[in-house]
Amino acid sequence: MLDVARHFFSVDDVKHYIDLMAAYKMNTLHLHLSDDQGWRIEIKSWPNLTAIGGSTEVGGGEGGFYTQEEYTGIVNYAAERFITIIPEIDMPGHTNAALASYAELNCDGKARDLYTGTDVGFSTLCTGKKITYQFVDDVVRELARLTPGPYIHIGGDESHVTKKEDYIPFIERVQEIVLSHNKTMIGWDEITLAKLDSRSVAQYWASAENAKNAIAQQVKLIMSPAKKAYLDMQYDSITPLGLHWAGYIEVDTGYNWDPAALEEGIGREHILGIEAPLWTETVTNRSELEFMVLPRLPGYAEIGWSPAAARNWDEYKNRLAQHGKRYDALGINYYPSKLVPWISE
Ligand code: ACM
Repeated sequence: MLDVARHFFSVDDVKHYIDLMAAYKMNTLHLHLSDDQGWRIEIKSWPNLTAIGGSTEVGGGEGGFYTQEEYTGIVNYAAERFITIIPEIDMPGHTNAALASYAELNCDGKARDLYTGTDVGFSTLCTGKKITYQFVDDVVRELARLTPGPYIHIGGDESHVTKKEDYIPFIERVQEIVLSHNKTMIGWDEITLAKLDSRSVAQYWASAENAKNAIAQQVKLIMSPAKKAYLDMQYDSITPLGLHWAGYIEVDTGYNWDPAALEEGIGREHILGIEAPLWTETVTNRSELEFMVLPRLPGYAEIGWSPAAARNWDEYKNRLAQHGKRYDALGINYYPSKLVPWISE
């Protein structure tokens, strides 16, 4: 996953990210296209989402968005490299950019100010209003039309100011909308509080209990445990970029885990795959992106493709070391972890 909402990344930067993924045989890119700080995909029926909601980013920079034509260019570029794009519009929380763009989406009918900080959990769509579901239906319809892949991600995380009794029916209604446009819904693990269709997919990031709610509903999991797989976590306490609310993720920590053995009760049969998300509150440009992603990315690819019994850090670190020279030759930035025996000329 790449978060293009907190900081906007150009079409060329996203294509570069796709190139890095393709080099390691990753097959799915989840784009986090909206959040409190920005709305990044043109929706023709709701143009202020990008005109207003796309106009800034964390730190107050100019933001940006993809036109539908540009977005299709990304989808096609990815497809040529055997990568499926999963678009995410996060809701009902993480919606300040939309709430700033359209007053009528707020319960009090007043547009919110644009937001360029990094707090989470303060915004919510007005789940009791009819227009909210018209909005969701329009957005999902346009996105579904742009999406050859089977999935639409609806977020659902950290809706701290949505009452639980409002959140649950909202997710169930959004699930109906996604299904009505012939797509499969994915949501962060909180969505398992709702009654899910067994075709829907839950993304484990924080709560094993939520993941077990998914299993109880025959809902499959994507495994993205923040403590192991979040690419925005610092490598160590002096890493100049990144956050550490889920811990530090050195290159060995990112590699040394088995999705099917992480939590009691979550086994291979419950898991569709793994995902390593790059959130971009602190990541502002291509070079910083490369520094957070490399050299952890190949480790996630190997976890995804190789059985746990075939993986061993002491052997892997020597193979990984060979990649430093490649990155140098390609002019790609990376974190020169002391745990990797890099080969110097
Ligand atoms: C998340 O990190 N809020 C999914």
